[in-house]
Amino acid sequence: MFVLDQNKRMSATVVRLVNGGVSLVLTSRDHHLPVVSHWGTVLAPDDDLTDVLTPQFVSDQTERLIECSLVPEEARGWLGTPGLAGHRSGRSSTHAFTVTGVDADDHRATFHASDAGLDLTLTVGLTAEGVVELSAELTNTGDDPFTLDSLTPALRVPLRARELLDFTGRHLRERSPQRHPFAVGTVRRDSRRGRTGLQSTTLMIAGEPGFGFQEGRTWGLHVAWSGNHTHLAERAHGGEQILAGGECLLPGEVVLAPGESYRTPALLYSFGVGLDELSARYHAWLRRQHEARRPAGRRPRPITLNTWEAVYFAHDLDNLVELAEVAAKVGVERFVLDDGWFGSRRDDTAGLGDWEVSADVWPGGLEPLADAVRGLGMEFGLWVEPEMINLDSDLARAHPEWILGPPGRLPLRVRNQHVLNLAHPDAYAHIASRLSDLVARLGISYLKWDHNRDLIEAAGPQGERLVHAQTLAYYRLLDELHERFGDLEIESCASGGGRIDLGVLTRTDRVWASDCNDPLERQEIQRWTGLLLPPEFIGAHVGPARAHTTGRTHSLTFRAGTAVFGHFGIEWDLRSANAGQLERLTAWVARAKELRGLLATGRTVRTADRDGTRVHGVVGDDRAVFAVVQLASSPTYPTGPVTFPGLDPDARWRVTLDELTPAPDLVWAAEPRVLSGRALAEAGLAAPTLYPEHLAIIHLERSES
Ligand code: DGJ
Repeated sequence: MFVLDQNKRMSATVVRLVNGGVSLVLTSRDHHLPVVSHWGTVLAPDDDLTDVLTPQFVSDQTERLIECSLVPEEARGWLGTPGLAGHRSGRSSTHAFTVTGVDADDHRATFHASDAGLDLTLTVGLTAEGVVELSAELTNTGDDPFTLDSLTPALRVPLRARELLDFTGRHLRERSPQRHPFAVGTVRRDSRRGRTGLQSTTLMIAGEPGFGFQEGRTWGLHVAWSGNHTHLAERAHGGEQILAGGECLLPGEVVLAPGESYRTPALLYSFGVGLDELSARYHAWLRRQHEARRPAGRRPRPITLNTWEAVYFAHDLDNLVELAEVAAKVGVERFVLDDGWFGSRRDDTAGLGDWEVSADVWPGGLEPLADAVRGLGMEFGLWVEPEMINLDSDLARAHPEWILGPPGRLPLRVRNQHVLNLAHPDAYAHIASRLSDLVARLGISYLKWDHNRDLIEAAGPQGERLVHAQTLAYYRLLDELHERFGDLEIESCASGGGRIDLGVLTRTDRVWASDCNDPLERQEIQRWTGLLLPPEFIGAHVGPARAHTTGRTHSLTFRAGTAVFGHFGIEWDLRSANAGQLERLTAWVARAKELRGLLATGRTVRTADRDGTRVHGVVGDDRAVFAVVQLASSPTYPTGPVTFPGLDPDARWRVTLDELTPAPDLVWAAEPRVLSGRALAEAGLAAPTLYPEHLAIIHLERSES
């Protein structure tokens, strides 16, 4: 529902959007840019906030005048981070926009505004899931160029949000949570790596003190962009506090000629009472994008085997066919050949850019392997890293001018590689045609698309900065491939989980969350990646018993019982597995197939860790699956009850323990019980007492009895 009020007394235009259990009230006074009057739970339609929020006059300082709009302006008293920064050769850098028109329908409002030489269009949507989609478009209507330094729209959040949660990370340990007080000042997270970034924050969340998965109101921002970007939380001296974000533009990257426009990435905001609700809105939003993208429906996520940790660069037809045979026997449905199949790529020093099958390693081409894989009933997928180039490659020798870098020198070499300038039309055309040929010629249904290097000093021949253009070219490449190959699926990988955002995920089908397959690390990585992404988008593989990246050893139950909560796969040389291991792995693959429908439609729920124990699960209408995970040894024992949030409280649920996980000496495990969702959420069940780094899986089925 939306109401557009012209409140004559206050000269205010009020837009009330209500959708998906959320209400957003925007007020524009005296034709100024709109301010958030309310964002959160749904208010009554006749609640009029127009003047009841006007602060008392205290002393005559700037603070009493602040209007903290969707693009906060100095002209309206906002002396924090400006919503718009730009100039005309050092002039015309202050702006005071006047709203010239508002278009609104039930769930969306567009504010048209202008200032001398600039038009600004703000689009605010409130989706069926309750996600606020905010973007801004700036057009230069003046006679001379306008240099845009930043355009970072904002939503004001209530003062009861006193704590912040954001994320950091690194290779092999992506998305580590950080909590801070939401104090006066700025918590600003810029990612200047030319890709979303292993270190970047996928979300900036403000919440009531002590907010948790089910408790406390939370307001979150995600910037849906795969290049340089900013998330910021800022509290001003007047008490106003905002969540703002956008692209993090490099100097001179966007100079608008007369008539030209720049549009920000989508800022996706979610509100929730508890993080689970905030997260569920993002999940539903992304699932809807994918339903629209593939109207025939998303297939169940195929069980995947990736060859990387199985063979690394040691490609050999006989060995890989043997691996494919074992994979098919355990129930794998997609076989992905990782790095090492092309050009001179025998290790990571050479070959990137030469997207031709290596005749040395694959004298008969890739067809014999692809045919064998398909003959075994699996799909064939291939690894590529199209934006990258090794100096030791035919492409670099032929076209050194296609490498990004400042004039006259090369930037730092990372993993022995450099970045190809996709904003160069010939480089773009070359890569686009190589990829299309490969997909068409080999009948590839899946690309694992990697990106292993930050864009350091990404510049063109005149030294012009090109991260913005590179990001747009990357999106265009993905869009064109989808246009041509409608069924092609793409995995977004970047040194593990370095390109995870909802810009790329509207164009790709899953992410590689991390190069770390250690299930203990994965419990963390998947939990926090899963705040933004639904589980079926998060690639999760069972590795060998001893993890290659940490040296820890884990049971198959812990490895598989962790991977089963994502897009399940295997990354293990199964030729070395014994008969017992293969038998148990086959059972886990079958379990993943049984659960994947629930995972792809259900709602993810979590509990806070207690004494080394964690519970997380996925709840559907008629069934649910939970894991009770013992992360570390507990200072007390036995473990005590654990609770199961998110179930319909009035329904009754039959509880059973998964036979693939250890059978504890517990009454409810011996004789399955039926309990209400309320009892399970409030009183819970005595937890199985587990060794550290072990887990149990519990199934719940709606019961009539
Ligand atoms: C980094 C990826 O994250 C790995 O999974 C693997 O594909 C390697 N690159 C290959 O070079």
